[in-house]
Amino acid sequence: MGFLWMCCVLLAVFSGPGLGGSDKCDEVRKVFQVREIGPSQLLPPRPRPGSDLQVCTSKTLMCCTKKMEEKYQVAARRDLQNLLQMYSNNLKTLLSRNVAAFQETFEVLMKQGENYTNAFLQVSYQKMADQAAGAVGELFTDVGLFLLGSELDVDEFVRRFFDGLFPLVYSHLVSPGAGGLSSVYAECVRSISRDVRPFGAVPDLLADQITRSGVSGRLLLQALHLGIEVINTTDHLQLSRECRRALLKMHYCPHCQGLTESKPCMGYCLNVMRGCLASMAEIDPHWREFVRSLEGLSAKMHGAQDLEQVLLGVHTMLHDAVRHAEKSGARLSTQVQKKCGPPSRTPAQSVSIQEGSSKVSTLLKASNRAPGVSLTVRSREFLSSLRSYLTFYIGLPDQLCVRELASGDTPCWNGTDIVKSYTLRVVRNGIRAQSANPEVKVRGEDPLINQIIDKLKHINQLLQGKSIPKLGSLDQIETGSGDAEGRSSGDCDDEDDCGGSGGGEVKRRLFKVSKLSPDVTGDYKHHHYHHPPAKDSKIDSSSGSLRRTRAIWVLVLACLHLILDL
Ligand SMILES: *[C@@H]1O[C@H](CO)[C@@H](O)[C@H](O)[C@H]1NC(C)=O
Ligand SMILES: *[C@@H]1O[C@H](CO)[C@@H](O)[C@H](O)[C@H]1NC(C)=O
Ligand SMILES: *[C@@H]1O[C@H](CO)[C@@H](O)[C@H](O)[C@H]1NC(C)=O
Repeated sequence: MGFLWMCCVLLAVFSGPGLGGSDKCDEVRKVFQVREIGPSQLLPPRPRPGSDLQVCTSKTLMCCTKKMEEKYQVAARRDLQNLLQMYSNNLKTLLSRNVAAFQETFEVLMKQGENYTNAFLQVSYQKMADQAAGAVGELFTDVGLFLLGSELDVDEFVRRFFDGLFPLVYSHLVSPGAGGLSSVYAECVRSISRDVRPFGAVPDLLADQITRSGVSGRLLLQALHLGIEVINTTDHLQLSRECRRALLKMHYCPHCQGLTESKPCMGYCLNVMRGCLASMAEIDPHWREFVRSLEGLSAKMHGAQDLEQVLLGVHTMLHDAVRHAEKSGARLSTQVQKKCGPPSRTPAQSVSIQEGSSKVSTLLKASNRAPGVSLTVRSREFLSSLRSYLTFYIGLPDQLCVRELASGDTPCWNGTDIVKSYTLRVVRNGIRAQSANPEVKVRGEDPLINQIIDKLKHINQLLQGKSIPKLGSLDQIETGSGDAEGRSSGDCDDEDDCGGSGGGEVKRRLFKVSKLSPDVTGDYKHHHYHHPPAKDSKIDSSSGSLRRTRAIWVLVLACLHLILDL
């Protein structure tokens, strides 16, 4: 009798949890722990009916509980947000690196411009150079602040600079004296500078050049900051409830059935991603325009709008200004004396400009520019890098599905089963197209995305030169890019396929795949329906239970033997 009991106990031990195939869920448990989806207590001790589950419904026994479903949903959202950030990271780095690089270039330019100007004064007008250095420093500081975005009036700070210069030029060159002017007299001379206009049109010319070139530089920095803000916004996109449920279904519902290695079908993945990222796709036309507008701006940054040329050329303007004052010396003397009275003066030798000019050119040539500073080169390099992100926002769902999420081949997960192919319609990008999305209901626009779109629209208008006067040569450039655009949009018959870049090609390929899908499924149903899915832990668990069944039969037979013997 003892033997019999032992037999029965052994039978119970072997068959108890094993009959239901508990190792169907072993892999699920492992993944749940490794990916830190939630505490392992949430896992059911054995497969159970999943009638209480919200999204992962199925008639088979499940490895999931309702609590696990919630954890999976959080994990699915986290996974997508990590992916989005990973994909935008290079673009973000490109922009923030260039903000820093452009700022540094501006600073170096400011220092060089100041240095050139001071060097020129030292060589040409040595006597007043030291006294002028303060005003020169102030001028370049103001230009720098203007470039970084301060609301400074360029006309005003340029005039202030020339106002300060007038007493020096007057006392050293126009009406030279040994002891210089008293500070009261100098102040009087300074105060009448704007009426007397000792430097002719030069101050206006310089202010105009600084404004034109400076506005471009300012805009460039402003635009790059906005670019970073756009990415920051989409990195933190709020995923709707419908999207989160769709993500859960796509990524983790297979786990509930013990299918931890299945991947979603391509068309299925595209529907889910295009639904979830629909509002992001709305950024696309404005983003493209942004990239093109930056190119336009960069093309405009030459000649009178080349900041580098303007700032490093301040000394030649200064030269012109002083020449002008010297030429109208007689008139200036009369006017100054009329308003400020006679200055005390002792005769002194005037400084030769010709001699100074040749010296300054050799001096400036000698002090070579630091390599790599060139603004033109830097902006050209930046734009060619940025151009590869032209289709970033429209191409993202495809990129994510093709490179990260979806199964390249069959069988794949269609949301409820492992199948040979996905049979539902694949929708296009953008919010309007989502009304036909079978996987994700898209309610409408995202207010944060709309805000960032408005900002993009605004900066695009600025970049396109609303505040920069157009020059003859620029119109050609603009017409040129317009033509190119016309051609590419004429080429494509699909609204969302008008990438014209690598992303577009990927998409075209995908469309072929998804168009083929229904036929393939038809074949599959007729000919191969009885084949079990090739992958996944179903196979492991079925062979495992086979082994167990065999062991139980051996035991049963042994016990029967014993019973018969008794
Ligand atoms: C300014 O010029 C002097 C020579 O006049 C030179 O020694 C110095 O390095 C220059 N500074 C900058 C920032 O270019
Ligand atoms: C990025 O976005 C977050 C949250 O939306 C915000 O707190 C942060 O200041 C933003 N950073 C930048 C650089 O815009
Ligand atoms: C997934 O496949 C199953 C089995 O072929 C089918 O019943 C179901 O309708 C499919 N679901 C979708 C969304 O295609």
